[in-house]
Amino acid sequence: MKRVAIITASDSGYSGAREDKSAPVIEEIVQKQGYEVVKKLLLPDDREMLAAAMREIADSGGADLILTTGGTGFSPRDVMPEATLSVAERTVPGIPEAMRAYSMQFTKRAMLSRAAAGIRKKTLIINMPGSPKAVRECLEYIISELDHGLEILLGEAGNCARK
Ligand code: MTE
Repeated sequence: MKRVAIITASDSGYSGAREDKSAPVIEEIVQKQGYEVVKKLLLPDDREMLAAAMREIADSGGADLILTTGGTGFSPRDVMPEATLSVAERTVPGIPEAMRAYSMQFTKRAMLSRAAAGIRKKTLIINMPGSPKAVRECLEYIISELDHGLEILLGEAGNCARK
């Protein structure tokens, strides 16, 4: 069973002023896919705190997949992509590209999400936008293909080109 950590970046969620409605959507979708949620963190929009949390999870082998929500827009406090890319050893541009392309049918504002994705050690990290609606649209689209990527990352599946 693949293990998932969820990180929500939200100043208002962290201060208790707003309820985090996006992490439960992630949890619902990944559980339906047969994944296990092993950690849920609600952090402020602080680049260092976000990066440290991702680094700790990846370096301890605590999760195979980190899904983040929030902090991908243009506000000065939106730093999730920068935190992610600062800890990533390898980038995974295709997943956010696919999310944005697919999301354009719902709203052209999908182009405003700066979401990134990367790999650190054996952990795949994927950013999603902050709203529960956006999370559902993006994650339901990509989730079916994550298994194959994670199996290659974890050494459970061969490289497609060598088949
Ligand atoms: N993607 C999808 N699928 N659906 C949406 O409603 N909202 C967009 C975009 N991506 C949206 C979406 C909007 S309005 C913004 S500003 C950006 O995500 C960034 O959102 P964030 O700052 O909450 O991460």
